[in-house]
Amino acid sequence: MSTHTVVLIPGDGIGPEVSDATRHVLEAAGAPVQFDVQLAGESALNQTGETLPQQTIDAIAMHGVALKGPCTTPVGKGFSSVNVALRKRLDLYAAVRPVRSLPGVETRYKDVDLVIVRENTEGLYSGIENVVTEGVIVSMKVATLRACERISRWAFDYAKKRGRTRVTVFHKANIMKLTDGMMLDVARRVASEYPGVAVDDMIIDAACMKMVQDPGNFEVVLCENLYGDIISDLCAGLVGGLGVVPGANIGEKAAVFEAVHGSAPTIAGKGVANPLALIMSGVMMLNHLAETRNDETCVRAAARIKNAYDAAMRAGEKTADLGGELGTMDFAEVIAKRIKA
Ligand code: NAI
Repeated sequence: MSTHTVVLIPGDGIGPEVSDATRHVLEAAGAPVQFDVQLAGESALNQTGETLPQQTIDAIAMHGVALKGPCTTPVGKGFSSVNVALRKRLDLYAAVRPVRSLPGVETRYKDVDLVIVRENTEGLYSGIENVVTEGVIVSMKVATLRACERISRWAFDYAKKRGRTRVTVFHKANIMKLTDGMMLDVARRVASEYPGVAVDDMIIDAACMKMVQDPGNFEVVLCENLYGDIISDLCAGLVGGLGVVPGANIGEKAAVFEAVHGSAPTIAGKGVANPLALIMSGVMMLNHLAETRNDETCVRAAARIKNAYDAAMRAGEKTADLGGELGTMDFAEVIAKRIKA
């Protein structure tokens, strides 16, 4: 059995806590991975003077896969987001966020099972902001044909592979006729190459209403960067909150798996954060390793972890954000015990 070396970035705030918990669960499941621990975020700044050291980028580029805790970005002047920088530098153009109702997690909805595919490299995240004159500032929304095409193709490929029947494009092409207009046109053109997958679209504001009315109507949601960011948190709210939504940032040469949530500074260091979203991201990572490196042991480890957390949720073994009483590490231990039982 071969062991895959994976970069582990503990991150900031609750990051180190949820990373330790995830590591514990992966080990209990016999996941064939070993970690190359690297720094990013505030912790990196404190230790190396940089928020995103070149060594971290190089390590991910070398190993091709990383599991990442959240990194803090101070609001306003001074720092650009480490997360955005990482995605751009490694060209991780597809953010993939599966959102599903969990057994035992009571919410208003029972049948959510959708996947958000978010363009991860441009849009309003271009970082191009200019002061035109005093009191007048522009922020540039960038859309390129190349990025629209590759994210559309990624979404339809994904839908086809996973047996999903419809991709819905969220946009505001009625107002941003050129940028969002191009994204919509390209998505429709790409869709014509996938006869088994239907395409439809919704204006983002109406889509938000429809999502909270009946999220069961959506299968794969395709959108540009900012809409994807906002919709991700909205969707987290449909299934129990940020503690239960995993994610992956995927490019041609590397993939970084991370929860949707941030570093949650107000609960950091208290041992109460829910590690499930990062554990789920770890499961996505194992399935990615299985697919790209043809390793069945990863599939088995992923299934063991998923079965264990589904069973734990059903039994009411939860952290405080889901109405339970377990701390971060207690929850990880519960999962580890279920895996080994
Ligand atoms: P956040 O996701 O950290 O927190 C939002 C709310 O959800 C807070 O009430 C928090 O306590 C709660 N929460 C989040 N994760 C939780 C978990 N695992 N268990 C229990 N409760 C949880 O978002 P916020 O406060 O906007 O951002 C804080 C920092 O994180 C900022 O510096 C932001 O830039 C950064 N961030 C980093 C991300 C990343 O590394 N990918 C993603 C989002 C934000």
